[in-house]
Amino acid sequence: MSAFTKIKGTKDVFGEEMKYWEYVENKAKDLFKRYAFKEIRVPTIEKTELFSRGVGQETDIVQKEMYTFDDKKGRSLTLRPEGTASVARAYIENSLISFGSPQKLFYIGPMFRYEKPQSGRYREFYQLGAEIFGTDHPLADAELIAFIYDFFSNLKLSNFRIKINSIGTFESREKYKEILKKYYEPLLPNLCEDCQRRYNTNVMRLLDCKKDVEASKKAPSILDYLDEESQKHFKELQHFLNIYGVPYVVDPKIVRGLDYYTKTAFEVEHLNLGEQAVIAGGGRYDNLVEQLEGPKTPGVGFAIGIERLIEAIKKENIFVKSDYNVEVYIAYQGEKGQAEALKLSKYLRKKGIKTFLNISKRNLRGQFKHADRLNVKFVIIIGDEEISKGIVTIKNMENGEQTEVEKNWVYEIITEKLNEK
Ligand code: HAM
Repeated sequence: MSAFTKIKGTKDVFGEEMKYWEYVENKAKDLFKRYAFKEIRVPTIEKTELFSRGVGQETDIVQKEMYTFDDKKGRSLTLRPEGTASVARAYIENSLISFGSPQKLFYIGPMFRYEKPQSGRYREFYQLGAEIFGTDHPLADAELIAFIYDFFSNLKLSNFRIKINSIGTFESREKYKEILKKYYEPLLPNLCEDCQRRYNTNVMRLLDCKKDVEASKKAPSILDYLDEESQKHFKELQHFLNIYGVPYVVDPKIVRGLDYYTKTAFEVEHLNLGEQAVIAGGGRYDNLVEQLEGPKTPGVGFAIGIERLIEAIKKENIFVKSDYNVEVYIAYQGEKGQAEALKLSKYLRKKGIKTFLNISKRNLRGQFKHADRLNVKFVIIIGDEEISKGIVTIKNMENGEQTEVEKNWVYEIITEKLNEK
């Protein structure tokens, strides 16, 4: 065993596992295009200040979970713990507003958080996210939630629940926080360590504590303390979701772990996952762009955790086909056979057939064994006999049947055979 092993909380994705990633990413890209989103790629590394300012100095992410280091010139840099702050920075820096408003962007990529690794929780994990800049209309919030519903349904998932809430504007939230503090104050000595710490830094997080569930059950609801504008926004959001036909529940305990949210907050939970059951989260952030020194620009977005989504797909036993199955193996003998095989592989690949050409020093028997190993149903043989006759042989590896074929008809016949399957 080599000393070079992967870092705790990271993973290698390969083999059969890869088909799930492709399934999810291809379906997402296809649907994003249908919803008229455009892809954006931003760096995985940013100035630390972007996240402390954007995500919030008091959040767990910034306080405890960032991979931060000084570069050779002593500048503090951070591996992005999430995508929204980076995309907002890119929106400002590249004046994306000049391309029209709203801007609808999506991204897929790795995020880094120094959390305690466990099932469904990694230190490097992938998010598939979307952000809309430049509209404060609740239709934008509704469209994003409808996208998630559409996307999960396209993946054939069914056992998930969309939970929505409004956490109001910054101002209305301050009032609510005071009320919440009063409620929790007498309970505090009996609450968990995290709750005790968050009581002063971010009291709303006490509501979604998984340990002290009882305490939050009777807590005052933020929905009773919303300002008029947030109330109206939330009502309209629900109205649009109803028209879209998106099922959801209102859950006033959804508070989210990032500071930039205003008004809408939502999460999607999968009912077959254990502790890490939240597969998507998002909400509105009308002050973020301004906080990052951009022009006042409302925004709303979400991110889906790809590892958790794939886990959910597996839990629901959804059949996912691999797109990597080799369709044809080309085996040959001798130099002439090799040259013919090479030309044939070029031709079949051009025609779209997934072709494995023997590229090792195997004899014919070894090549058959290898084709078997790869689970390939058809082997095209170009041996000495085939060369002298000017033909090729197609062997069906499942039933041993061999067909001699004119060289010019190989593609047509192999296609026919593949379609027979
Ligand atoms: P978040 O809730 O921190 O939101 O993360 C979104 C999703 O990423 C989570 O629901 C979860 O599925 C996944 N996730 C988070 N941490 C981990 C981890 N350590 N391991 C595996 N999966 C994880 C955001 O990041 C916001 N930027 C979402 C957003 C976009 N809000 C507005 N726009």
